[in-house]
Amino acid sequence: MKKTAIYPGSFDPVTNGHLDILKRALRIFDSVIVAVTDHRSKGPLFSVQERTALFRQAAQGLKGVSVENFNGLLVNYARKKGACAIVRGLRAVSDFEYEFQMALMNRHLSQRKKEPLETVYMMPDEKYTYLSSSLVKEVSRLGGDISHFVPRSVSAALLTKNRIPVKKT
Ligand code: PNS
Repeated sequence: MKKTAIYPGSFDPVTNGHLDILKRALRIFDSVIVAVTDHRSKGPLFSVQERTALFRQAAQGLKGVSVENFNGLLVNYARKKGACAIVRGLRAVSDFEYEFQMALMNRHLSQRKKEPLETVYMMPDEKYTYLSSSLVKEVSRLGGDISHFVPRSVSAALLTKNRIPVKKT
């Protein structure tokens, strides 16, 4: 049976670290659905449509990937999509507590009707362990170069959002 995983997140915006995790997940699962959350509590820089479009563009050429947005409980969305697991990246110990809580809550919420949904954690390449979307946004807003950390389309979108003129290459 084909195995599908959900890779959920805010992805505000997608970074090379997220793409690294996605590629690792594709080595284990037949297909991965990137699920971009619609909840606005974090006050995202990019709208959910923009974040979805940026991830879709960044994942172009990767087989077995679809990028969608969702709202409501992740476990319900994952069930609807027939996923057998949730994939998340784990960069450092500081990520652990939040991830531990989410994994156990999702397992609890999902086990009432069927088998529990498990969360699979993956470590990104070492060069991405200090990378986060928040840091990328801050560095870009203050005029720093983030081109090593995000896909080209995201670099351009950040410059446009921050009203920094895009250099022609
Ligand atoms: O990239 P993030 O912001 O760390 O991702 C968090 C995300 C989207 C995975 C989490 O907030 C989530 O699953 N939201 C959907 C609503 C939900 O199911 N909440 C309960 C999670 S235990």
